[in-house]
Amino acid sequence: MTHYTGLVDRYREFLPIGLETPAVSLCEGNTPLIELKHLPAQWGGKCRVLVKFEGLNPTGSFKDRGMTVAVTRAREEGSEAVICASTGNTSASAAAYAKRAGMICFVLIPEGNVAMGKVAQAIVHGATILQIKGNFDDGMRLVREIAEEMPVAIVNSINPYRLQGQKTAAFEVVDELEAPPDYHCLPVGNAGNISAYWLGYCEMAGHVTQVGEACGFSRDQRLFPPAIVTQSRPVMLGYQASGAAPFLRGEPVENPETKATAIRIGNPQSWDAAWAVQRESRGWFDECTDEEILAMQSQLASQEGIFCEPASAISVAGLMRDIQSGKVKEGSTIVCTLTGHGLKDPSVVGDLTLQSVPATLESIRNVVENKLNADTTA
Ligand code: F0G
Repeated sequence: MTHYTGLVDRYREFLPIGLETPAVSLCEGNTPLIELKHLPAQWGGKCRVLVKFEGLNPTGSFKDRGMTVAVTRAREEGSEAVICASTGNTSASAAAYAKRAGMICFVLIPEGNVAMGKVAQAIVHGATILQIKGNFDDGMRLVREIAEEMPVAIVNSINPYRLQGQKTAAFEVVDELEAPPDYHCLPVGNAGNISAYWLGYCEMAGHVTQVGEACGFSRDQRLFPPAIVTQSRPVMLGYQASGAAPFLRGEPVENPETKATAIRIGNPQSWDAAWAVQRESRGWFDECTDEEILAMQSQLASQEGIFCEPASAISVAGLMRDIQSGKVKEGSTIVCTLTGHGLKDPSVVGDLTLQSVPATLESIRNVVENKLNADTTA
């Protein structure tokens, strides 16, 4: 077996990175596709549901796929500093990859609305953190403006190299299933990731997509994998939190609100690309309430053993509804991307206080006995 050295090395010929350029990598990618064993049966219908657990990337989210390519490219171009606005995960990833590359990292985060685990990551990786009295959309505007004046490379998903890296997740899904799924479900914030997956699926199928142009690469620069494995592509389903659902409202949302802070975004940067994904894949957008999101996060953890962050659980929460209503066809194979790890945000779990027991065999035996009895009589 050869040592896995990350997705730039694995997919270099399909990425706009020179053959000799050393990758800035933390061995991201190659994440598991885990089949759900318990939940789908409870929803009725006979669908096969698998989750692509992107929380198992080096900094705990899918952002690492884009960041390895964006930072590799920024270093290749001679940049000394990177900058991003972030709801948390991008900042954690940018901070780690910038350090790996020996670069300076600036991050703008919305005050009071970033999960502590993500802030901790940006701190330990030595980013210069600017907590702004504004939301993500304000941060994004400021990042664009400062990059006009100062020599800092933007590593948000408006950087086309980010989506190039993120498209590799679709390559992995097709590799593993030996075919694309019938449907692919994703949370939608800025809509970069859903656009990137679609780009990946289209490239694998040898199809042209407007997303390619929308994310900054002309037709000629598109890099088709040589082995075209299939002509089919999945229907793409994008879910937004009800309080931050510009794709459902048809226009930007001024004051987005949701407990799924990762997708607390009112003015998505990949607006046109995401509509192209919806049209071309004949997919749809839908919304879920915070209650539905948190309930699904809890079910994935307590029934399937998978702890993802709230924003990630929306992909499964939305799918459940669409299976139950019959919008998703019986017998389909569906992949949901779980974009980030639950450990980033333990605060949403609720009360973390624990009961103490004496350190005696008797007290342990009592608890074990009671629990076993309760479970067998249930
Ligand atoms: N899930 C998680 C865990 C995220 O962190 C994000 C975005 C998304 C989903 C949505 O992906 O923006 O490509 O549609 N997080 C960004 C950040 C905005 O700053 O970390 P998208």
